[in-house]
Amino acid sequence: MSFSILPPPITPLAAILPSEPLLLMGAGPVPIPQAVAQANGVIINHLGPTMDRVIQNVKYMAAYAFQTRSDKILGIAGPASAAMEMAVANLCWPGRKVLCLKVGTFSGRLGEMALGVGADVTFLEGPPGRPVSLADVREAMKKQRYDVVTMAHGETSCGVRMVEMPEICKLAKTQGALTIVDAVVTLTAMPVHMDEWGIDVGIVGGQKALSSIPGVSACAFSQDAWKVVEERPLPRPHWCYDATRAQRFWGYQQYHYTAPVPGVLALHEALRLVCEETLERRFRRHEMSSLAMQAGLEAMGLELFASKDVRLNSVLAIKLPSGVDSARIREYMTKAFRVEISGAFGLNIVRVGQMGEQCRSHNLFKTLYAMGMSFQREGVKLDVAKGMAALEQGLAGDRDYFVD
Ligand SMILES: Cc1ncc(COP(=O)(O)O)c(C=O)c1O
Repeated sequence: MSFSILPPPITPLAAILPSEPLLLMGAGPVPIPQAVAQANGVIINHLGPTMDRVIQNVKYMAAYAFQTRSDKILGIAGPASAAMEMAVANLCWPGRKVLCLKVGTFSGRLGEMALGVGADVTFLEGPPGRPVSLADVREAMKKQRYDVVTMAHGETSCGVRMVEMPEICKLAKTQGALTIVDAVVTLTAMPVHMDEWGIDVGIVGGQKALSSIPGVSACAFSQDAWKVVEERPLPRPHWCYDATRAQRFWGYQQYHYTAPVPGVLALHEALRLVCEETLERRFRRHEMSSLAMQAGLEAMGLELFASKDVRLNSVLAIKLPSGVDSARIREYMTKAFRVEISGAFGLNIVRVGQMGEQCRSHNLFKTLYAMGMSFQREGVKLDVAKGMAALEQGLAGDRDYFVD
Protein backbone atom coordinates (compact mmCIF):
# COMPACT_ATOMS: atom_id res chain seq x y z
CA MET A 1 0.00 0.00 0.00
CA SER A 2 1.39 3.44 -0.82
CA PHE A 3 0.59 6.66 1.02
CA SER A 4 0.24 9.98 -0.75
CA ILE A 5 0.79 11.85 2.51
CA LEU A 6 4.21 11.11 4.03
CA PRO A 7 5.20 11.52 7.69
CA PRO A 8 6.42 15.11 8.18
CA PRO A 9 10.01 15.54 9.42
CA ILE A 10 9.34 16.76 12.97
CA THR A 11 12.10 17.64 15.43
CA PRO A 12 11.81 16.12 18.93
CA LEU A 13 10.03 18.21 21.55
CA ALA A 14 13.30 18.78 23.40
CA ALA A 15 14.52 20.76 20.40
CA ILE A 16 11.41 22.95 20.45
CA LEU A 17 11.22 23.67 24.17
CA PRO A 18 13.58 26.31 25.61
CA SER A 19 16.79 24.70 26.90
CA GLU A 20 16.29 26.51 30.21
CA PRO A 21 12.61 26.67 31.26
CA LEU A 22 11.11 30.14 31.37
CA LEU A 23 9.87 31.44 34.70
CA LEU A 24 6.11 31.78 34.21
CA MET A 25 5.16 35.02 35.99
CA GLY A 26 2.13 35.91 33.88
CA ALA A 27 -1.59 35.48 34.49
CA GLY A 28 -1.35 31.67 34.21
CA PRO A 29 -0.33 28.96 33.79
CA VAL A 30 2.08 29.25 36.72
CA PRO A 31 5.05 27.12 37.84
CA ILE A 32 4.08 23.82 39.45
CA PRO A 33 5.73 22.07 42.41
CA GLN A 34 7.70 18.86 41.85
CA ALA A 35 5.02 16.70 43.50
CA VAL A 36 2.41 18.03 41.04
CA ALA A 37 4.70 17.48 38.04
CA GLN A 38 5.44 13.92 39.13
CA ALA A 39 1.77 13.10 39.69
CA ASN A 40 1.02 14.44 36.22
CA GLY A 41 3.30 11.77 34.77
CA VAL A 42 1.37 8.86 36.32
CA ILE A 43 -1.43 6.89 34.70
CA ILE A 44 -3.78 4.51 36.54
CA ASN A 45 -7.20 3.13 35.70
CA HIS A 46 -9.79 5.89 36.05
CA LEU A 47 -12.21 3.42 37.67
CA GLY A 48 -11.41 1.18 40.61
CA PRO A 49 -10.43 1.38 44.27
CA THR A 50 -7.21 3.41 43.79
CA MET A 51 -8.95 6.13 41.81
CA ASP A 52 -11.89 6.07 44.26
CA ARG A 53 -9.51 7.04 47.07
CA VAL A 54 -7.94 9.77 44.96
CA ILE A 55 -11.36 11.22 44.10
CA GLN A 56 -12.52 11.13 47.74
CA ASN A 57 -9.37 12.96 48.80
CA VAL A 58 -9.71 15.57 46.04
CA LYS A 59 -13.28 16.25 47.15
CA TYR A 60 -12.37 16.56 50.85
CA MET A 61 -9.47 18.86 50.06
CA ALA A 62 -11.46 20.96 47.56
CA ALA A 63 -14.21 21.35 50.19
CA TYR A 64 -11.55 22.78 52.52
CA ALA A 65 -10.29 25.13 49.79
CA PHE A 66 -13.84 26.34 49.01
CA GLN A 67 -14.83 26.29 52.70
CA THR A 68 -17.96 24.32 51.95
CA ARG A 69 -19.72 21.33 53.49
CA SER A 70 -21.25 20.48 50.14
CA ASP A 71 -20.25 17.12 48.70
CA LYS A 72 -21.32 18.13 45.19
CA ILE A 73 -17.82 18.82 43.99
CA LEU A 74 -17.17 17.86 40.40
CA GLY A 75 -13.87 17.76 38.54
CA ILE A 76 -13.92 18.60 34.84
CA ALA A 77 -11.67 17.46 32.02
CA GLY A 78 -11.19 20.90 30.57
CA PRO A 79 -9.90 24.41 31.30
CA ALA A 80 -11.49 26.77 33.79
CA SER A 81 -13.74 27.91 30.93
CA ALA A 82 -15.16 24.37 30.85
CA ALA A 83 -15.98 24.61 34.56
CA MET A 84 -17.66 27.96 33.81
CA GLU A 85 -19.59 26.24 31.04
CA MET A 86 -20.70 23.48 33.42
CA ALA A 87 -21.91 26.01 36.00
CA VAL A 88 -23.79 28.12 33.44
CA ALA A 89 -25.20 25.31 31.31
CA ASN A 90 -26.68 23.51 34.32
CA LEU A 91 -28.35 26.54 35.94
CA CYS A 92 -29.39 28.53 32.86
CA TRP A 93 -31.77 27.73 30.00
CA PRO A 94 -34.26 29.57 27.77
CA GLY A 95 -36.51 31.73 29.89
CA ARG A 96 -34.10 31.98 32.83
CA LYS A 97 -33.13 35.53 33.77
CA VAL A 98 -29.43 36.03 34.32
CA LEU A 99 -27.65 39.09 35.69
CA CYS A 100 -24.02 39.10 34.54
CA LEU A 101 -21.75 41.41 36.54
CA LYS A 102 -19.15 42.32 33.95
CA VAL A 103 -15.80 43.83 34.89
CA GLY A 104 -13.76 42.43 32.03
CA THR A 105 -13.15 39.46 29.74
CA PHE A 106 -13.74 36.58 32.14
CA SER A 107 -16.71 37.88 34.10
CA GLY A 108 -18.23 38.80 30.71
CA ARG A 109 -17.58 35.28 29.42
CA LEU A 110 -20.05 33.88 31.95
CA GLY A 111 -22.74 36.10 30.41
CA GLU A 112 -21.76 35.06 26.89
CA MET A 113 -22.11 31.44 27.93
CA ALA A 114 -25.54 32.11 29.44
CA LEU A 115 -26.61 33.73 26.13
CA GLY A 116 -25.29 30.63 24.40
CA VAL A 117 -27.69 28.35 26.26
CA GLY A 118 -30.61 30.66 25.51
CA ALA A 119 -30.97 32.51 28.81
CA ASP A 120 -32.22 36.08 28.99
CA VAL A 121 -29.06 37.93 30.03
CA THR A 122 -28.63 41.44 31.41
CA PHE A 123 -25.05 42.73 31.55
CA LEU A 124 -24.31 45.12 34.40
CA GLU A 125 -20.93 46.85 34.17
CA GLY A 126 -18.99 48.92 36.68
CA PRO A 127 -17.10 52.09 35.74
CA PRO A 128 -13.83 51.35 33.85
CA GLY A 129 -11.29 49.72 36.18
CA ARG A 130 -13.86 49.33 38.96
CA PRO A 131 -16.01 46.37 40.07
CA VAL A 132 -19.80 46.36 39.95
CA SER A 133 -21.04 47.70 43.28
CA LEU A 134 -23.55 46.20 45.69
CA ALA A 135 -25.65 49.35 45.29
CA ASP A 136 -25.84 48.86 41.50
CA VAL A 137 -26.81 45.20 41.92
CA ARG A 138 -29.49 46.19 44.43
CA GLU A 139 -30.90 48.73 41.94
CA ALA A 140 -30.89 46.16 39.14
CA MET A 141 -32.68 43.67 41.37
CA LYS A 142 -35.38 46.23 42.21
CA LYS A 143 -36.20 46.52 38.50
CA GLN A 144 -36.33 42.81 37.74
CA ARG A 145 -36.23 39.39 39.42
CA TYR A 146 -33.24 37.25 38.40
CA ASP A 147 -32.76 33.49 38.60
CA VAL A 148 -28.97 33.60 38.43
CA VAL A 149 -26.27 36.21 39.10
CA THR A 150 -22.79 35.59 37.66
CA MET A 151 -19.48 37.25 38.57
CA ALA A 152 -15.73 36.75 38.80
CA HIS A 153 -14.22 37.23 42.25
CA GLY A 154 -10.99 38.31 40.59
CA GLU A 155 -11.09 39.77 37.07
CA THR A 156 -7.74 38.77 35.60
CA SER A 157 -7.99 40.89 32.46
CA CYS A 158 -7.65 44.16 34.39
CA GLY A 159 -6.53 43.11 37.88
CA VAL A 160 -9.75 44.18 39.64
CA ARG A 161 -11.34 42.41 42.60
CA MET A 162 -15.09 42.20 43.13
CA VAL A 163 -14.74 43.64 46.61
CA GLU A 164 -18.42 43.39 47.56
CA MET A 165 -18.81 39.83 46.29
CA PRO A 166 -19.83 38.37 49.70
CA GLU A 167 -22.53 41.03 50.16
CA ILE A 168 -23.75 40.59 46.59
CA CYS A 169 -24.08 36.82 47.10
CA LYS A 170 -26.00 37.39 50.33
CA LEU A 171 -28.31 39.87 48.60
CA ALA A 172 -28.90 37.44 45.73
CA LYS A 173 -29.92 34.74 48.25
CA THR A 174 -32.51 37.01 49.84
CA GLN A 175 -33.91 37.66 46.33
CA GLY A 176 -34.07 33.97 45.45
CA ALA A 177 -31.28 34.16 42.85
CA LEU A 178 -28.47 31.64 42.60
CA THR A 179 -24.91 32.92 42.31
CA ILE A 180 -22.13 31.60 40.09
CA VAL A 181 -18.71 32.81 41.22
CA ASP A 182 -15.55 32.38 39.17
CA ALA A 183 -12.86 31.96 41.84
CA VAL A 184 -10.25 30.88 39.31
CA VAL A 185 -7.57 33.36 40.39
CA THR A 186 -8.62 33.74 44.00
CA LEU A 187 -9.23 30.26 45.43
CA THR A 188 -6.38 29.49 47.87
CA ALA A 189 -4.80 32.91 47.18
CA MET A 190 -7.28 34.84 49.34
CA PRO A 191 -10.35 34.00 51.42
CA VAL A 192 -13.32 32.44 49.61
CA HIS A 193 -16.00 31.26 52.06
CA MET A 194 -18.49 29.49 49.86
CA ASP A 195 -21.03 28.47 52.52
CA GLU A 196 -20.75 31.55 54.71
CA TRP A 197 -21.09 33.95 51.76
CA GLY A 198 -23.84 31.95 50.09
CA ILE A 199 -22.01 31.20 46.84
CA ASP A 200 -24.06 28.64 44.88
CA VAL A 201 -21.49 27.50 42.37
CA GLY A 202 -17.78 28.10 42.92
CA ILE A 203 -15.44 27.63 39.97
CA VAL A 204 -11.71 26.94 40.02
CA GLY A 205 -9.11 26.09 37.37
CA GLY A 206 -5.89 24.20 38.06
CA GLN A 207 -3.37 26.51 36.47
CA LYS A 208 -3.69 29.58 38.70
CA ALA A 209 -3.45 29.89 42.48
CA LEU A 210 -3.62 26.12 42.93
CA SER A 211 -0.34 25.75 40.99
CA SER A 212 -1.55 22.65 39.20
CA ILE A 213 -1.68 21.95 35.48
CA PRO A 214 -4.00 23.66 32.98
CA GLY A 215 -6.87 21.62 31.52
CA VAL A 216 -8.38 20.16 34.69
CA SER A 217 -10.79 22.27 36.71
CA ALA A 218 -13.60 21.91 39.26
CA CYS A 219 -17.01 23.23 40.33
CA ALA A 220 -18.59 23.09 43.78
CA PHE A 221 -22.42 23.25 43.89
CA SER A 222 -24.43 24.34 46.94
CA GLN A 223 -27.53 22.39 47.99
CA ASP A 224 -29.77 25.12 46.49
CA ALA A 225 -27.92 24.95 43.19
CA TRP A 226 -27.98 21.16 43.14
CA LYS A 227 -31.76 21.13 43.63
CA VAL A 228 -32.12 23.30 40.51
CA VAL A 229 -29.70 21.06 38.59
CA GLU A 230 -31.71 17.97 39.46
CA GLU A 231 -35.12 19.55 38.81
CA ARG A 232 -34.16 21.09 35.47
CA PRO A 233 -37.27 20.90 33.29
CA LEU A 234 -35.49 20.84 29.91
CA PRO A 235 -32.98 18.53 28.20
CA ARG A 236 -29.36 19.19 29.10
CA PRO A 237 -27.41 20.86 26.27
CA HIS A 238 -24.06 19.24 27.06
CA TRP A 239 -23.18 15.64 27.67
CA CYS A 240 -19.70 16.11 29.15
CA TYR A 241 -20.69 19.16 31.21
CA ASP A 242 -23.97 17.73 32.48
CA ALA A 243 -23.51 17.93 36.27
CA THR A 244 -25.84 14.99 36.96
CA ARG A 245 -23.82 12.74 34.64
CA ALA A 246 -20.54 14.04 36.11
CA GLN A 247 -21.88 13.20 39.56
CA ARG A 248 -22.00 9.53 38.52
CA PHE A 249 -18.22 9.56 38.48
CA TRP A 250 -17.50 12.15 41.20
CA GLY A 251 -20.25 10.89 43.51
CA TYR A 252 -20.64 7.19 42.76
CA GLN A 253 -17.41 6.10 41.03
CA GLN A 254 -19.27 5.05 37.90
CA TYR A 255 -18.33 5.68 34.29
CA HIS A 256 -19.15 9.09 32.81
CA TYR A 257 -16.21 9.60 30.46
CA THR A 258 -12.61 8.54 30.86
CA ALA A 259 -11.34 10.93 33.49
CA PRO A 260 -8.15 12.94 32.84
CA VAL A 261 -6.26 10.71 35.28
CA PRO A 262 -2.83 12.43 35.40
CA GLY A 263 -4.52 15.82 35.72
CA VAL A 264 -6.68 14.61 38.61
CA LEU A 265 -3.59 13.16 40.30
CA ALA A 266 -1.83 16.50 39.79
CA LEU A 267 -4.84 18.29 41.31
CA HIS A 268 -4.66 15.89 44.25
CA GLU A 269 -1.07 16.87 44.93
CA ALA A 270 -1.72 20.58 44.43
CA LEU A 271 -4.60 20.45 46.93
CA ARG A 272 -2.57 18.31 49.34
CA LEU A 273 0.12 21.01 49.36
CA VAL A 274 -2.58 23.61 50.09
CA CYS A 275 -3.79 21.53 53.06
CA GLU A 276 -0.24 21.02 54.27
CA GLU A 277 0.49 24.75 54.11
CA THR A 278 -3.00 25.61 55.50
CA LEU A 279 -5.16 28.36 54.05
CA GLU A 280 -4.13 30.87 56.72
CA ARG A 281 -0.45 30.59 55.88
CA ARG A 282 -1.08 30.44 52.15
CA PHE A 283 -3.21 33.59 52.19
CA ARG A 284 -0.53 35.38 54.20
CA ARG A 285 2.20 34.26 51.77
CA HIS A 286 0.16 35.51 48.81
CA GLU A 287 -0.69 38.79 50.49
CA MET A 288 2.89 39.53 51.56
CA SER A 289 4.22 38.56 48.17
CA SER A 290 1.77 40.73 46.25
CA LEU A 291 2.03 43.77 48.51
CA ALA A 292 5.83 43.60 48.38
CA MET A 293 5.73 43.31 44.57
CA GLN A 294 3.30 46.25 44.36
CA ALA A 295 5.57 48.32 46.60
CA GLY A 296 8.56 47.39 44.46
CA LEU A 297 6.84 48.29 41.19
CA GLU A 298 5.65 51.64 42.52
CA ALA A 299 8.97 52.52 44.17
CA MET A 300 10.65 51.81 40.86
CA GLY A 301 8.37 54.32 39.16
CA LEU A 302 5.70 52.17 37.52
CA GLU A 303 1.98 52.71 38.03
CA LEU A 304 -0.64 50.08 38.79
CA PHE A 305 -3.88 50.08 36.79
CA ALA A 306 -6.41 49.26 39.52
CA SER A 307 -6.72 51.56 42.50
CA LYS A 308 -5.72 50.09 45.84
CA ASP A 309 -9.24 49.68 47.23
CA VAL A 310 -10.29 47.33 44.39
CA ARG A 311 -6.93 45.87 43.42
CA LEU A 312 -6.70 42.14 42.85
CA ASN A 313 -3.62 40.86 44.63
CA SER A 314 -3.24 37.70 42.59
CA VAL A 315 -2.87 39.35 39.17
CA LEU A 316 -1.32 42.81 39.02
CA ALA A 317 -2.06 45.03 36.03
CA ILE A 318 0.72 47.55 35.36
CA LYS A 319 0.13 50.62 33.19
CA LEU A 320 2.42 50.93 30.19
CA PRO A 321 4.07 54.36 30.04
CA SER A 322 3.15 56.12 26.79
CA GLY A 323 5.06 54.97 23.75
CA VAL A 324 6.16 51.69 25.34
CA ASP A 325 5.46 48.57 23.36
CA SER A 326 4.21 45.64 25.45
CA ALA A 327 5.39 42.97 23.02
CA ARG A 328 8.96 44.36 22.89
CA ILE A 329 9.19 44.53 26.69
CA ARG A 330 7.94 40.98 27.08
CA GLU A 331 10.15 39.64 24.32
CA TYR A 332 13.24 41.17 25.90
CA MET A 333 12.31 39.90 29.38
CA THR A 334 12.01 36.41 27.95
CA LYS A 335 15.23 36.53 25.97
CA ALA A 336 17.46 38.29 28.43
CA PHE A 337 16.08 37.15 31.77
CA ARG A 338 14.07 33.97 31.03
CA VAL A 339 11.01 35.53 32.69
CA GLU A 340 7.60 35.60 31.06
CA ILE A 341 4.77 38.00 31.97
CA SER A 342 1.42 38.56 30.22
CA GLY A 343 0.12 41.13 27.80
CA ALA A 344 -3.50 42.21 27.90
CA PHE A 345 -6.89 42.02 26.20
CA GLY A 346 -7.06 45.49 24.67
CA LEU A 347 -5.93 47.58 27.67
CA ASN A 348 -2.58 49.36 27.70
CA ILE A 349 -1.16 47.21 30.49
CA VAL A 350 1.08 44.23 31.19
CA ARG A 351 0.16 41.71 33.87
CA VAL A 352 2.21 39.93 36.51
CA GLY A 353 0.83 36.94 38.36
CA GLN A 354 1.01 36.44 42.09
CA MET A 355 -0.39 32.95 42.36
CA GLY A 356 0.81 29.76 43.99
CA GLU A 357 4.47 29.06 43.23
CA GLN A 358 4.90 32.50 41.71
CA CYS A 359 4.81 33.84 45.28
CA ARG A 360 8.32 32.72 46.23
CA SER A 361 10.95 35.30 47.07
CA HIS A 362 13.49 34.15 44.44
CA ASN A 363 10.82 34.47 41.73
CA LEU A 364 9.81 37.94 42.90
CA PHE A 365 13.34 39.35 42.86
CA LYS A 366 14.08 37.88 39.46
CA THR A 367 10.83 39.20 37.98
CA LEU A 368 11.04 42.72 39.36
CA TYR A 369 14.64 43.11 38.25
CA ALA A 370 13.84 41.74 34.81
CA MET A 371 10.90 44.13 34.45
CA GLY A 372 12.86 47.13 35.64
CA MET A 373 15.77 46.49 33.30
CA SER A 374 13.48 45.78 30.34
CA PHE A 375 11.42 48.94 30.81
CA GLN A 376 14.63 50.95 31.17
CA ARG A 377 15.92 49.53 27.91
CA GLU A 378 12.79 50.91 26.24
CA GLY A 379 13.66 54.38 27.52
CA VAL A 380 11.44 54.49 30.61
CA LYS A 381 13.14 56.34 33.47
CA LEU A 382 13.02 54.02 36.49
CA ASP A 383 14.88 53.63 39.75
CA VAL A 384 15.40 49.86 39.68
CA ALA A 385 17.50 49.79 42.86
CA LYS A 386 14.81 51.64 44.82
CA GLY A 387 12.21 49.16 43.60
CA MET A 388 14.35 46.17 44.60
CA ALA A 389 14.89 47.70 48.04
CA ALA A 390 11.14 48.20 48.49
CA LEU A 391 10.52 44.58 47.52
CA GLU A 392 13.15 43.39 49.96
CA GLN A 393 11.59 45.51 52.71
CA GLY A 394 8.12 44.16 51.93
CA LEU A 395 9.31 40.61 52.35
CA ALA A 396 11.29 41.26 55.49
CA GLY A 397 8.29 40.74 57.80
CA ASP A 398 8.38 36.99 58.10
CA ARG A 399 10.68 35.09 55.80
CA ASP A 400 9.28 31.77 56.99
CA TYR A 401 6.30 32.25 54.67
CA PHE A 402 8.61 32.08 51.68
CA VAL A 403 10.45 28.87 52.49
CA ASP A 404 9.94 26.55 49.53
C1 LIG B 1 -10.77 34.73 36.17
C2 LIG B 1 -10.61 33.72 35.08
N1 LIG B 1 -11.64 32.93 34.77
C3 LIG B 1 -11.56 32.01 33.80
C4 LIG B 1 -10.41 31.85 33.07
C5 LIG B 1 -10.39 30.85 31.97
O1 LIG B 1 -9.44 29.87 32.22
P1 LIG B 1 -9.01 28.85 31.07
O2 LIG B 1 -8.18 29.62 30.13
O3 LIG B 1 -8.30 27.78 31.81
O4 LIG B 1 -10.26 28.37 30.43
C6 LIG B 1 -9.30 32.63 33.35
C7 LIG B 1 -8.06 32.49 32.57
O5 LIG B 1 -7.19 33.32 32.59
C8 LIG B 1 -9.41 33.58 34.38
O6 LIG B 1 -8.39 34.37 34.69
